[in-house]
Amino acid sequence: MTRDTPLDDWPRHGGQPQALLKRLGLTPGQPVRDFSANLNPLGPPEWLDEHLPSLWHGIDRYPDPDYYTARYAIAEAQGLDASQVLLTNGGAEAIFLAAALHTGRRAAIVQPTFAEYARACQHYRLTVRNIFLSPDFAIDETRTLEAMREADVVFLCRPNNPSGTLVPRALIDKMLAVGQAHGTCLVVDEAFIDFIEDPSESLTPLLAEYPHLILLRSLTKLYAIPGLRLGYLLGAPDVVARATEVQMPWSVNAPAAALVAPLLADGDFVACTHAWLRRELDRLQPTLDRLAFDVSPTRVNFYLLRDRRQPRSSEALLRFLASAGILARPTHNFPGLEDGWLRLAVRSAEDNDCLLAALAAWRQRQEVS
Ligand SMILES: Cc1ncc(COP(=O)(O)O)c(C=O)c1O
Repeated sequence: MTRDTPLDDWPRHGGQPQALLKRLGLTPGQPVRDFSANLNPLGPPEWLDEHLPSLWHGIDRYPDPDYYTARYAIAEAQGLDASQVLLTNGGAEAIFLAAALHTGRRAAIVQPTFAEYARACQHYRLTVRNIFLSPDFAIDETRTLEAMREADVVFLCRPNNPSGTLVPRALIDKMLAVGQAHGTCLVVDEAFIDFIEDPSESLTPLLAEYPHLILLRSLTKLYAIPGLRLGYLLGAPDVVARATEVQMPWSVNAPAAALVAPLLADGDFVACTHAWLRRELDRLQPTLDRLAFDVSPTRVNFYLLRDRRQPRSSEALLRFLASAGILARPTHNFPGLEDGWLRLAVRSAEDNDCLLAALAAWRQRQEVS
């Protein structure tokens, strides 16, 4: 796939199988395995089906405008005070609120990354400078620290969408120290942090030390509930208070808000997710390498993949997989990402087996031709 393909021609996000099939000229509605959305295949938790009907009883009343119960549950789980938590309509709303706090100012975005930081900055008239990861997804420390000196706010996705990689903790510490000295806010989107087993990778404890740190979270990825829309923003109490001022009233619906506490209490679901992800990544990574595919050094439930023997273009592989009923996420709307990558979700063992079989068939076909 090349950069001169019109960008707005393709679905802007993963998880839109019908739009992607249509763009590929295939029959919409045909059964597919959707690897384009980075949702937990173990979710939603089984108990949710039974629990949901009881939540509808509350829809004849407005939600609590402060969402105290949900915020308190998040604060408890994170070891914070409820004044440091703002419940949001998905991580997406949290991103737009973080940008709103810096309306008209200077932002830097570590790219290639999730497109909504740039959209939110554009919406709130921030001027944006991009800092690009290297082709092997390493971050340029000098440029990043320079951005922490020169911008008013820096957006970083950690773990990063689309690569699944993590900027080293040691650099985060340096960024925060520079940000503290220069009054620069660091916004870290941790939408996928719960997929990582090592609790020391979460930046929550740093909130106690750095009032310029804002963390954005999503509940939709881990629990596979993107239709419900649930996320939150964590920060210093005065930052949260300012974000609350610019948030729409009753932004989160009552049934979704009521689910926060039971979702966070389901430790077994998270443990099963970690076990599944470890198992599948341990299996996928060596097999993909054997089949001569490059894979980004991911730590989470999605990764970038490209054909090592044909690294410049991914469109033929995208189409080949789609014709085998496997939808990958094209990546041309990620600025700074080299051509040739597709983003794939880690899915169930059965789905991953189908993917590996299709990729083996692709390799065989390439070798014959
Ligand atoms: C990095 C990142 N942050 C935030 C979001 C938004 O998630 P939500 O569904 O919680 O709005 C996404 C969705 O794809 C994402 O990839």
